[in-house]
Amino acid sequence: MTALPKAELHVHLEGTLEPEDMVRFAARNGVGLPWRSPEELRAAYAFTGLENFLSVYFQGCRVLCTREDFRELTVAYLQRAAGQGVRRAEMLFGPQAFLDRGIPIGEQVGGIVDGIDEVRETHGIDGALLVSAHRHRSEGDALELLELVRPWRERVLGIGLGGAERGNPPAKFARYFDAACAEGYRTTCHAGEEGPAAYVTEALDACHVERIDHGYAAAENPDLVARLADEQVTLTMCPLSNLRLHVTDDLTTYPLRRLLDAGVPVTVNSDDPAYFGGYVNENYQAVTDALDLTEAEVTTLVRNSFSGSFAHAEELRDVFEELCPKASDVSRCVGS
Ligand code: ADE
Ligand code: ZN
Repeated sequence: MTALPKAELHVHLEGTLEPEDMVRFAARNGVGLPWRSPEELRAAYAFTGLENFLSVYFQGCRVLCTREDFRELTVAYLQRAAGQGVRRAEMLFGPQAFLDRGIPIGEQVGGIVDGIDEVRETHGIDGALLVSAHRHRSEGDALELLELVRPWRERVLGIGLGGAERGNPPAKFARYFDAACAEGYRTTCHAGEEGPAAYVTEALDACHVERIDHGYAAAENPDLVARLADEQVTLTMCPLSNLRLHVTDDLTTYPLRRLLDAGVPVTVNSDDPAYFGGYVNENYQAVTDALDLTEAEVTTLVRNSFSGSFAHAEELRDVFEELCPKASDVSRCVGS
């Protein structure tokens, strides 16, 4: 598993903040936390659902204050990911919680791109930034966020949408995604995590997003599954996250193989690894164990991770050559 080159397409940078670092950053920045030690923090990670998790997650975000904090966070994640065979990491990051606390966008994005550039040099991992808005806020706030990141246009590859899903359908953000698309950003949207399959359809029809983050609920709707396969819409699934947030209570019934068999380009990702008990390889391992995935199925998953990435086909040629040694397979993988 570690040896296989892979891309991670769905990881929130804030969700990679390990308890030890949360305590360290809190002390460094003079931020009070309701937990005194990493052990107390880990004990608090018994979530009842997405909204309950998000309240802990946003408390964790409070310890990140300076450009250096964002750089260190990014470096720690990318180094760890590189150690798990990740060659390409597309990282979601939500500036709004930090803007609320008066932290300038330049400190946030500046620190992240410093980290990306540093680990590209030291470990050869290709990091990319996706800026994400919170759907429990207004669309006006999301449009304002797009304006704020404009000076960083060259360093922000894509735009996403996360946060509390129930009651906040994708269509609420149709203008945000239209504006992002008009500015040439790649687009992805959380849908069908706690929300219904209809939110996945809405993300495609009203927001025209290219990728769906999670998409778990889509599996219950055969017409939608057929559409995802037909249109080759990548789902960035996160098994350990879904388990820890009670989206599913048992990975042996996880719909990943059913979706794969139907031809949907499913991928495996970690979401918020510091909170959910595993980085990308632990997620591969958990579904492999639960579903008894074959080597060929795991190879399909890693291949999907590259073909579903927002990297240019040319950038992916080398890695596909490793994954598909036969020349005829390379062109199929790269899609050119
Ligand atoms: N932000 C961080 N993790 C998230 C998740 N699992 N769902 C929605 N928004 C998130
Ligand atoms: Zn997510």
